[in-house]
This record gives sequence, C-alpha cells and structure tokens, in this order.
Amino acid sequence: MRFPCSRRGAVAACERSLKRLGVETIDLYLLHWRGSVPLAETVKAFEQLKSDGKIAAWGVSNFDASDMAELWALDGGHACATNQVLYHLGERGIEWDLIPRCREQRTPIMAYSPLGQGEILLEPAVEDIAEKHGVAPATVALAWVLRQEGMIAIPKAANLGHVRANAAALGLAFDPADLKTLDAAFPAPNGPSPLAII
Ligand SMILES: NC(=O)c1ccc[n+]([C@@H]2O[C@H](COP(=O)([O-])OP(=O)(O)OC[C@H]3O[C@@H](n4cnc5c(N)ncnc54)[C@H](OP(=O)(O)O)[C@@H]3O)[C@@H](O)[C@H]2O)c1
Repeated sequence: MRFPCSRRGAVAACERSLKRLGVETIDLYLLHWRGSVPLAETVKAFEQLKSDGKIAAWGVSNFDASDMAELWALDGGHACATNQVLYHLGERGIEWDLIPRCREQRTPIMAYSPLGQGEILLEPAVEDIAEKHGVAPATVALAWVLRQEGMIAIPKAANLGHVRANAAALGLAFDPADLKTLDAAFPAPNGPSPLAII
C-alpha cells in the first residue's frame, strides 16, 4: 500500500494495516521506496512503531547504495532489518556496490522476484543445470540467489509443486562448473548501474 511516510502518516497507515490484518504486531514493516518525506522522519516513525510494539522490525525497499549510505548515517538507521530489492540471475547490478556495502554494514538483502517472475526458468543454462542435478529450474535459480551470505529471497508461488521446488533450493549445492556456466550466461556487472526496479 502507498502512504506518505511522515511520522504521523506512517503510524496511521500501520494502525490501519494492523486492523485489516487482525493482528497486534507486524513482524517486518517496509518502506516501499524513497518518497518526498525526509528519511529521518520515516525512521523516527518506524522506531516509534517498534517501541509501541506495533511492529517487530522495519526495513526499506528499492534503496540503492547511496540511499542506504544516507540511511545508515541517520540516528537509528542501523536498525534497518533489510533492504528488499530486485535480484535474480538476469538482474545482477546490485553485486557491484549494494551487496558489498550491505554486507559491510551487516544489513541483509531481501531479493524480490528472485525467479525473474518465471522468465529466468526458461533459460537454457538454468535448464541444463537443473537437469544435471535432477531438480527444477526454479530450484537452481533460487539456490543461486540464496547461496550468498546475508541474502534472503521471497519467491511467490501459488501451487504446492512450486513451493516444494522452491524449498528444495536450500539443499542444492553448486559445483564450480555450474557457477562458471551461470556466470557465462548471466554475466556479473562490470560497473555501476542504476538500481533496477519493477
Ligand atoms: N518491493 C518491491 O518493489 C517488489 C516489486 C515486485 C515484487 N515484489 C515481491 O516479490 C515477491 C515475488 O516476486 P514476483 O511474484 O514478482 O516474482 P517471482 O517470485 O520471481 O516469480 C513468481 C512467478 O514464478 C512462478 N513460480 C514460482 N515458483 C515456481 C516454480 N518452482 N516453478 C515454476 N514457476 C514458479 C509463479 O507461479 P505460481 O504463482 O503459479 O506458482 C509466478 O508466476 C512478491 O512477494 C512481491 O510482492 C516486491
């Protein structure tokens, strides 16, 4: 949901969400993207929600490396539990700067659309490695994201078979040849690029 993340706006929006969800606490509350409200005000609102017990943790989404630097410089900014950004085999731009900076600051990245909304699963390199390991292409795509330290992923799946294939990603270990094949098909960035969003 979109709302102005001013101190009053964020608190009021959270209270509406709690009511709609019928819960007393939201585990993780995210700022969807930067808006016109100063970040310091949003952080104060989120910290207030936390001390009032209305949220257990807060984070941000679609923040690039400079947004994160600004956030970490604020009072309370290091309480940010995660930055949710687009990341999958076909969208590796954040490896250049955002992932290393977040790792240094111990802020986990949460990869959204980690299956490339299904498109990446049709790529021959992904299919070949899936066949080699006897798993689904989604298992390969997700395991590739999750093999990295400080990385969370939120695939969306609406059927049980997909959920099972996604869960199997936790048990898949790549060998160096797999990673070489995937790097050749989906090259790592060789310079900075604007944060990709959908
Ligand atoms: N913060 C942001 O700005 C932002 C932006 C976009 C998305 N998101 C969040 O990211 C999450 C997921 O992103 P997404 O839905 O865009 O993309 P995604 O998770 O990469 O892909 C979802 C698609 O992949 C299919 N799928 C899932 N598991 C599969 C499997 N094992 N085998 C084959 N197909 C499979 C799903 O089909 P079925 O549903 O039929 O299983 C669905 O069509 C959502 O929670 C969304 O809210 C956040």
